Amino acid sequence: MYITLIAAVAAVGGLLFGFDTGVIAGAMLFIVPEFHLGPAEQGLVVSAVTFGALFGALIGGTSSDAIGRRWTNIAAGLSFVAGSIFSALAPDVEVLIASRVLIGLAIGLTSVAAPMYIAELSPPRNRGKLVSLFQLAITIGILLSYVVDRALAPDHAWRWMLGLAFVPGALLVIGMIAMPESPRWLLKTGAEKAARHALSLVRSPDEIDAEVRAIHDDLEQNQPAAWSELLMPGLRPALLVGVGLAVLQQVTGINTIIYYAPQIFQKAGLNSATTALAATAGIGVVNVLSTLIAIWLVDRVGRKPLLLAGLVGMTLSLAALGVAQGFGSTFDVDQQLVGPVTVGFVGLYIVCFAFSLGPVVWLMISEIFPNRARARAAGISTAANWTANFLVSLSFPVLQAMLGPSLWFLYAAMGVAAFIFVVGWVPETKGKSLEDISRQWRTATATNLVGQQPAK
Ligand code: BGC
Repeated sequence: MYITLIAAVAAVGGLLFGFDTGVIAGAMLFIVPEFHLGPAEQGLVVSAVTFGALFGALIGGTSSDAIGRRWTNIAAGLSFVAGSIFSALAPDVEVLIASRVLIGLAIGLTSVAAPMYIAELSPPRNRGKLVSLFQLAITIGILLSYVVDRALAPDHAWRWMLGLAFVPGALLVIGMIAMPESPRWLLKTGAEKAARHALSLVRSPDEIDAEVRAIHDDLEQNQPAAWSELLMPGLRPALLVGVGLAVLQQVTGINTIIYYAPQIFQKAGLNSATTALAATAGIGVVNVLSTLIAIWLVDRVGRKPLLLAGLVGMTLSLAALGVAQGFGSTFDVDQQLVGPVTVGFVGLYIVCFAFSLGPVVWLMISEIFPNRARARAAGISTAANWTANFLVSLSFPVLQAMLGPSLWFLYAAMGVAAFIFVVGWVPETKGKSLEDISRQWRTATATNLVGQQPAK
């Protein structure tokens, strides 16, 4: 189906997102000695991407409104291409850091524009599945980065490790040039004929009129013009959900595992680096395969049940990690067991993240906002995601040194907070059109404003 092709092309941005965040770990082994990097410079090279992504997300919100969803995705692709070439050819650490910021910008742009673009073209009945392809691509990108790092390590070929992202980057640019623009953005800019044409590519002819009318209606009902209006009562609850989910996706600890798995496994007693790396690759495979569970279920059982089930599993796995690593010696548990038990619970945690917070957060950010505000509100939510990512991955080594295994309980507590947040604030969006979701917020807000209906 054409809509699946559209989603797959936009999701190539996710592949680059995953690849470029994952590939640096292996490349650093060779970059550090070649450029004689001290700890501060190492930190800059690694975190430059996250820093760039934060700004890319904010720019992505504005540019998705100004130049459209399609061109923002193309701009992301161009930025991936330029960043890959410059980092592969970097003559010194300054150029390397600058090109990693450029790649970060691309990741920020794609993490706003790709899910939103897919959501705005998808039919409601399988929007969840189609947007989740973006997360599937992220996990494949992470796995590919492990494979590429392993394959090129014997030759110390870090320039190739970083430069290979050029290929999917170019595919993203070429693919997106051939794709249609989002009909919702076209209608927002008044280009009704083009919008109808774009819709005709992904809907049956009898569905188009009603959808165009619903989009027009939504555009008329929601008129935020300035950034500050995103905080007006009409939008505030949706923004709270977007930002809340984005932050909770990170503070429940996912990237302590994704970025630091080999160290975690080595600390837990898997002494040889090869075993720790093999376990990490295993985690990468589990991450990809478990995302398929979400693709299968997200339009069947809905977003909230997946989020809640995943959060229960993540929280229990985190608590179990804390117990296994912290109290093993107290209860005279055989220390030999701590390594495999750690791998087991980390694996279970990844399974639960991969069918819940991983895909569903990107999905909900792309679908909970009204047409007029979607790009900017998704930009803010995504920037919050990258800020939280930056803080969690930066603080992990320090917190681990301070708190030891009790740190896992802290992330578990965040899991409990996330559960409460989802139960209390997050709406179910399964099967609803984007305009129905927007109308629901309006009605809910109106009820709040008016207060209780007087008894008849
Ligand atoms: C998160 C990333 C994370 C990845 C792991 C994404 O949804 O946003 O921070 O590294 O999932 O699969």
